[in-house]
Amino acid sequence: MARTRVVIDTDPGVDDAVAILLALASPELDVLAITTVSGNVGLEKTTLNARRIVQLAQRRDVIVAAGCAGAIAGPTHYSGDVHGADGLGDLSWDEPDVPLHGEDAVELLRELVEAGPLTIVAIGPLTNLATLLGRYPDVARLVERVVIMGGASFEGNVTPAAEFNIWADPEAAQRVFAAEWPITAMPLDLTHQATLNDDDLQFLRSLGTEVGRRTADMLEPYARFHDEWYGNRDVIMHDAMAVYELIDPSAISKQGVQVNVETGGEYSRGATWFDRRRDHAESRIRVGLDVDNSKFVALLRERLATFR
Ligand code: RIB
Ligand code: CA
Repeated sequence: MARTRVVIDTDPGVDDAVAILLALASPELDVLAITTVSGNVGLEKTTLNARRIVQLAQRRDVIVAAGCAGAIAGPTHYSGDVHGADGLGDLSWDEPDVPLHGEDAVELLRELVEAGPLTIVAIGPLTNLATLLGRYPDVARLVERVVIMGGASFEGNVTPAAEFNIWADPEAAQRVFAAEWPITAMPLDLTHQATLNDDDLQFLRSLGTEVGRRTADMLEPYARFHDEWYGNRDVIMHDAMAVYELIDPSAISKQGVQVNVETGGEYSRGATWFDRRRDHAESRIRVGLDVDNSKFVALLRERLATFR
């Protein structure tokens, strides 16, 4: 099987953690590195969390590199206590001994892009990718594909208009969507179809593994947030959709779109205007539409059960 060379650009983040573990457990993917960005929590915490997740997965072959600490323009935002004060459910962790890469994430991304076909999975604010484009404008034509968790076709989450990853750095998102690389976007209207319930958390605990226990533990406060905000404990697996699409592209229906990001607007800053009035088959941008949650959950359970 030809494995897809992947870098995951992320702001862990509880749902980021599940997405990263799914990627590390999937033989279809060759995860070379995890690059961190400010988002759910600040860069120092997202980077420590990435090291914690790599150590939990016992995958010290995966490089961890820290990227940008703030938006390329405008204020830097965090997602508050959605993922806990530490961004990973506020569990107690030993200090990870996974090292931090010596170069910043943007330089590592450029090196990995130039070394061969690379797919970038972007599941946080798009600051690192926008900075990469700013420093190396020609890099876009070298990248195989960018799969993004971000945006919303109809309703936001952090505001009525905007989804968090885009809202946290709209100027970066506009630059990323405008670049000449193939993009597949997983917006909220898709990701809200992908959830784990209490039975799934119980399944994770029943595995009797450190990965199973800690994943269930970090999802518990995330479930409480969902209960308070959405009226039920089903936890939305936003970021895992970007990884699932890579593992099985046929699992998520898609259409061609054109996209613009609102960078002005008193109430609409960070909105993503996906033009879905027709299938823009000629566009290099595709947007995810629908997913079968039972098939997703079955695959996630199977893959997380492979950790020992
Ligand atoms: O809106 C959902 C996105 O914002 C996810 O990537 C989640 O981790 C948060 O970063
Ligand atoms: Ca995220």
